[in-house]
Amino acid sequence: MDGVKYIVAVASGKGGVGKSTVTVNLALALSAQGYRVGVLDADIYGPSQAQMLGVKEGVRPQTAEGNKFLPLEAHGLQAMSMAFMVNTREAMVWRGPMVVGAFQQMLTQTQWDNLDFLLIDMPPGTGDIQLTLAQKVPVSGAVIVTTPQDIALLDARKGIEMFRKVNVPVLGVVENMSLYHCENCGHEAAIFGTGGGDLIAEEYQTTVLGRLPLTLSIRELADSGKPSVVSEPDSSVSQTFAEIARQVAQSVSASESDGPTISFSE
Ligand SMILES: Nc1ncnc2c1ncn2[C@@H]1O[C@H](COP(=O)(O)OP(=O)(O)O)[C@@H](O)[C@H]1O
Ligand SMILES: [Mg+2]
Ligand SMILES: [Zn+2]
Repeated sequence: MDGVKYIVAVASGKGGVGKSTVTVNLALALSAQGYRVGVLDADIYGPSQAQMLGVKEGVRPQTAEGNKFLPLEAHGLQAMSMAFMVNTREAMVWRGPMVVGAFQQMLTQTQWDNLDFLLIDMPPGTGDIQLTLAQKVPVSGAVIVTTPQDIALLDARKGIEMFRKVNVPVLGVVENMSLYHCENCGHEAAIFGTGGGDLIAEEYQTTVLGRLPLTLSIRELADSGKPSVVSEPDSSVSQTFAEIARQVAQSVSASESDGPTISFSE
């Protein structure tokens, strides 16, 4: 893909587990480590990145030569999302083929400027968008986000199986909302249980890249357009993201030496 060195998908089987939150913070952590980073929001029905990056409604990407769009810039990242292109309330009623078409256009018509990493914030599930991505571009790896409870793990398994089927290496699992941390009194509770990430990592011979607590600040900061990594760079949450970023950067460049791995068959 023009202007992009490594493509990393952030995915899960299930919605609401924190893919978008992890995507934006991981992107910012990679950026803080000196990489040039872009975010492509592939969630056509429910794009989150405009809000999480603090891009105001109605801001549109500029057009460039050759029928291309320039990504928007936010917090030093390059970003493209359906939310920058259309009124997303209209997109809610699109049929499958239109959604795939829109995604393909974002994939092929965005003019990324010399990126080390393009992180793709995937929609939930294992459907058309996921297959389109694996077929159209060389994905270096996938980060699977899950919460620790059984029902989310079930969906995370489906996600891992799907990436395996299309020969996209799974770089590891991020266990989100691992432990509830009360910002008032500091007490902690494992609301969604514990150990789920380990279980699934073991089952698929992959690693837990990091564990993130369920905290008010993660949600407030992400949802207000100033994610933890830029708002609280010294917090333990930001340190966890930095650690995840290092592992992702390392395993992606390591897998490169194995040669191209993408193939697809029905
Ligand atoms: N560790 C966390 N602690 C608290 N809130 C979180 C955490 N991770 C995500 N959230 C919040 O949960 C909601 C869903 O997260 P999101 O990243 O949009 O999930 P997904 O992209 O998987 O649907 C968002 O409001 C987000 O701010
Ligand atoms: Mg999302
Ligand atoms: Zn408390």
